[in-house]
Formats: sequence, C-alpha cells, structure tokens
Amino acid sequence: MKRWFAVVAAITAILLFSPGGPAAKSSRWGKDYFPNVDVVTQDGERVRFYDDLIKDRIVLISFIFTSCTDLCPLTTARIAQVVDRLRDEIGKDIFVLSITVDPENDTPEKLKTFADAFYSGPGWTFITGKPADIRAINSKLGNKSDVATQHRNEIVLGNDRTGEWTRNSPFADIENLELAIRDMDPDWRDRRHVPQDALAANHDPRDLTIGREPGQVLFKKICAPCHTVGVTDHVGPDLLGVTDRRDRLWLSEMIMNPAGLRANKDPILTDLDAKYKGVRMPNLGLSASDASDLISYLTTRTAQINELRAQPEEQHLHQSTDGAGHQHN
Ligand code: HEC
Repeated sequence: MKRWFAVVAAITAILLFSPGGPAAKSSRWGKDYFPNVDVVTQDGERVRFYDDLIKDRIVLISFIFTSCTDLCPLTTARIAQVVDRLRDEIGKDIFVLSITVDPENDTPEKLKTFADAFYSGPGWTFITGKPADIRAINSKLGNKSDVATQHRNEIVLGNDRTGEWTRNSPFADIENLELAIRDMDPDWRDRRHVPQDALAANHDPRDLTIGREPGQVLFKKICAPCHTVGVTDHVGPDLLGVTDRRDRLWLSEMIMNPAGLRANKDPILTDLDAKYKGVRMPNLGLSASDASDLISYLTTRTAQINELRAQPEEQHLHQSTDGAGHQHN
C-alpha cells in the first residue's frame, strides 16, 4: 500500500511540477570525487566510470532498474523525449547515463533489452557493475535509492568541465528540461542573449494540438512519452484506432492496472508483451475517471485523424497547420 501511495504522489508531482523548482547545487564534484572504477555498459563493454563517462562532458544521469513496474519506465521514456529534442548534441557535447540501482539483477543483457526499447544511437549509456562499486557511484551522486524506494525518480545534470552540478526532475515540462540541460553549457548560455528567439526555437509545434480536454492533458504528460496516436509504434503500440479494436472494459483495465491483466494471463496482453520487449506498460496509479477521460480522448483523436486522412491532399495540407495533420504519411 505504501508503494502505491508513493506512485500516486509521484504522478501528482508529474501533473503539478512547475519549472524552476529544483535547487541548483554547485560543488567540487570532479576527478577526485567520483570513483574511477570499472563499470559495464549495455553492450558489455568495460569502461572507467570517471575517465570514460564523466570527464570533460555534460551529462544527464538517471537511476533505473529494469524490472521496475511503476515509474522508472516512464522516467526513461521522458528522458528519451528530451534526448530526441537534443539529438544533434547527444553523443557530442551531451551524454546520457542511466545507472542501475539493482546491480545484482541487472546484467548488461537486461540493460540492453531495456535500452533498445527506448533509444537507438550513440551517447546514451546504461551501466551496471560490481554491486559495491555501483552503490558507491550512486551514493556520490546523492542517490541512495534501491529497488524499493522512490528517490530514483530524480535526475542529476552535470558539466565536468565547469564543475557545475544540479538536480532536476524528469517530470518537469520537457521544454524546461531541455533548457536546463542546454544551460549546463556556458557557450550556449552566452549565445542565448535573445530569450525570445530561444523560446521560439524551443517551441514544439505539436503543442498546438493540446487543448483543455482533461484526457488530452493527461495523455501528453504520462502516455505520450511511450505512445503516439497516428504516427508509429514507439516504446508502446501506436494508439490510433485502439478504441475500435479493443473492448472498452479491457481498455480501462489496461490503463488502470496492466499488471493485474498480466497476472491473469490476459491473452491480448500476452501477445503484446511478446511484441514489445524490454519494457512493460507501467501501473500508473490512474483512477476510473482518468481512464475514462483518456478513452474519450483516444476516441476523439482517432476520429479527427481519420477524417483528416479521408480528405483530398490539398485540403489536408491546408488543415495540417493546426498540427493535427503533421504526422500524416
Ligand atoms: C513506459 C512506457 C509506457 C507508458 C508511460 C504508457 N504505456 Fe501504454 N503500453 C506500453 C507498452 C510497452 C505496451 C504494450 C504492452 C506491454 O508489453 O506492456 C502498452 C500498451 C498499451 C495499450 C494496449 C494497446 C493495444 O494495441 O491494445 C493501451 C491502450 C495503452 N498502452 C494505453 C496507455 C495510456 C492511456 C497511457 C497513459 C496513461 C500509457 N499507455 C502509458 C508502454 C507504456
């Protein structure tokens, strides 16, 4: 029960989190601070923690474990959204590091399957290693969490060159998280003299599709990191038409308690699990009325997209300026 309370509290935090919250923390973290021990990546490569993963880099660090059934897959999916926005810099100036808090169980193979569900490309390393070493690293990063605690839902941002380190939340607005990461780079800060431009450049045109319908807001915050509607299968299946292909009761159960369906060996979910490896739809602590809002939203959105797709190409181009047709192919 306690755990559930924590999940609900964390979801509330996602919905309420406002930017500017996390306090900046400057420190002398650096070469002599971090253990420069051997760790193992998702590709089975042995690397030195400080020399190979931190030194001279801007890093975003998160704490995960692959058997997590509540929030960590959502955390990782949200980081993947930010990574997507920073794609040109990832692996060049900015690096992402996800460290297991369950080194006893998280083998490189498990990390690999988990990693592949979210991202493919350079610049994002998942690491495990000797339990004592991994624990020492996590503790130096101020993360005392393990599989049973919730503190892992926090991220650390650092620039080893300037010695600036700060904490942030993966549940901040994606736009703000992106800015916080870019802000770790002094050159970027210098270039950012015209805030209007920076804001315009970071404005996501897809946001135009977001209105005040409760299901829509909820969807953007906690489903969109893993699902699209009318784009493509992502971490989870694309949800265009899901309200036609599935029974309403099943959908509601799936949204509120996928772990319960899985425990009952639900045949549809068994098929989906076989297709979507490495990550499971998490139990997100949603109520029946949340599920109902989400189902309404999925129904409306599917109808909108279908209508748009049925229109002749010219009209469609015209209408796509509201963002709704932007993902049409
Ligand atoms: C961390 C990623 C993640 C998040 C967050 C997430 N899902 Fe899922 N979802 C999945 C995966 C993966 C599957 C495929 C089933 C499985 O293996 O668990 C899935 C399956 C589904 C299905 C079944 C699709 C079908 O074809 O029958 C529905 C419906 C669904 N999710 C809705 C939602 C809604 C609504 C939200 C937000 C409240 C949400 N999901 C949040 C990962 C996620």
